[in-house]
Amino acid sequence: MKLISNFLLFFLVTGTGISSVYAGDSVSLDVPPASLEKWYKPANKRQVWLHTMFALRREMQAISEYAEQKDKPGMEKWISRLEKHYSKIADMVPEWKKEIKPRLLSELKMFAEKGDMYRVAKTLKMIQRTCDDCHSSYQPLVVAMYRSPHYEDIKVKDINGALESFSDNMENLSDSVNRILIALDDNHKTTALQASQNLVSQLQNLGESCNRCHKDDEYPRERILGEVTQQRFAKLKSDISAGRVKDSQDLMGEIAVTVCARCHNTHRIVNDLRDALLLEE
Ligand code: HEC
Ligand code: HEC
Ligand code: HEC
Repeated sequence: MKLISNFLLFFLVTGTGISSVYAGDSVSLDVPPASLEKWYKPANKRQVWLHTMFALRREMQAISEYAEQKDKPGMEKWISRLEKHYSKIADMVPEWKKEIKPRLLSELKMFAEKGDMYRVAKTLKMIQRTCDDCHSSYQPLVVAMYRSPHYEDIKVKDINGALESFSDNMENLSDSVNRILIALDDNHKTTALQASQNLVSQLQNLGESCNRCHKDDEYPRERILGEVTQQRFAKLKSDISAGRVKDSQDLMGEIAVTVCARCHNTHRIVNDLRDALLLEE
């Protein structure tokens, strides 16, 4: 959920350049140097940058826990790892050399050597500040640029079997949902039935695209388009056919929540915020 909360903070994008507005205050986000790209997929086989960051956090924690326990060898082992990874920041992205303070690592080593736990803790805090400063300027855009899923290059079949874009599929889903609701309201049973048939096919076609990102994992598709959803559609068909308008409308509400909104909450929110953040790039 970390990803989403970062996005929600930087909610609106205005003007030229990248600046965002939240609760009336303006915050500016810096665009990361292009050299960062090679430490992310697809340019790299692994998410090297991100994994370096995970290592840094683990090392900071180990050092501070061993400092509390006054365990010198423990501390020293993790300080040397921290030193290696901390200096990798500037090796990987030379433009970020000014964001780090390697001398703090030398000081940390010295204080650890002396067993001066008070200064070890203080120095760790100063190192942490360099982490925090870089994060607040760059983290949101880096996540948006290199780690959020995008849908532009995904093609989905339409109900006639021709290929359409992901967002056209969405427009068509929305048309079908509304056609059903309009037809129910006006008691046009045949139209409602036909539109619900279309909706089922459109979702079926959409479902073919899930494995673009979810690979061999069948669970995400099952969760949103699986058995329970199919049962709802089967019941919808019989409710519409039998003229049970109120029941049909209720079911449509359930479908909108369990299919559309449930998927949007993980996929669309992130996608739309990413588009908004990168609009002026
Ligand atoms: C993969 C899960 C997923 C499901 C299921 C899903 N959507 Fe979407 N929807 C998305 C994503 C992602 C976007 C943003 C896509 C984009 O802008 O390219 C989106 C965008 C939209 C849009 C905006 C279209 C646009 O041009 O930006 C509409 C309208 C929409 N969805 C309707 C629906 C309806 C109605 C349903 C249910 C019947 C539904 N969606 C089911 C993921 C989903
Ligand atoms: C020069 C910039 C910079 C410095 C300095 C920096 N980071 Fe990062 N860090 C980033 C960026 C950019 C991201 C976003 C990467 C992503 O999400 O793919 C990040 C993400 C992280 C994350 C992942 C957060 C999450 O859960 O998604 C952790 C943990 C982290 N950094 C720890 C640290 C620690 C600890 C330090 C200091 C010892 C540090 N970083 C110093 C730029 C920096
Ligand atoms: C462009 C990439 C992409 C596509 C296409 C995509 N997803 Fe996802 N989906 C993600 C990402 C990223 C997450 C969050 C991380 C995770 O859980 O893998 C996610 C999470 C989910 C989750 C919540 C986590 C879970 O496993 O329960 C569900 C459910 C889900 N997706 C369903 C679907 C369905 C259904 C489709 C097809 C209709 C779909 N996704 C298509 C990228 C995608």
